Amino acid sequence: MPIRRSHTPSALAALLVAAAAWPATAAESPAGRLLASNCYQCHGTNGRGPGFDDIAGKSARELYKDLKEFQSGEEGDGLMAAHARGYTDAQLMAIARYLARQR
Ligand code: HEC
Repeated sequence: MPIRRSHTPSALAALLVAAAAWPATAAESPAGRLLASNCYQCHGTNGRGPGFDDIAGKSARELYKDLKEFQSGEEGDGLMAAHARGYTDAQLMAIARYLARQR
């Protein structure tokens, strides 16, 4: 989707802040998609490579568990831990639910 001219940086920032506060229960809300867009530089657009591991299409439960393990330091070499630590549980769940719907 092309970014329209009216999306000034400050409008985008406001949108991201609003998205972060969006309840994870709104399954079709843009929050998961917006939050997951932070992952695309490494995991590819919509979580499908090329890049690091393909993260689209795993179950939401699996992805959430992976992310919680990165967050706690149980899993990984620190790079994903640093990312996972930036999110609340509700945000990680929103990201996991969004990525699980990508095929
Ligand atoms: C700077 C690059 C980078 C970014 C950005 C990034 N990741 Fe990762 N991710 C990695 C690397 C590297 C690994 C392999 C991790 C390891 O073993 O430590 C990984 C692994 C994973 C895995 C485990 C996949 C598997 O099959 O084992 C998941 C799930 C994951 N990332 C989700 C995410 C999510 C969700 C985001 C966005 C919030 C994200 N990543 C952002 C680099 C990144």
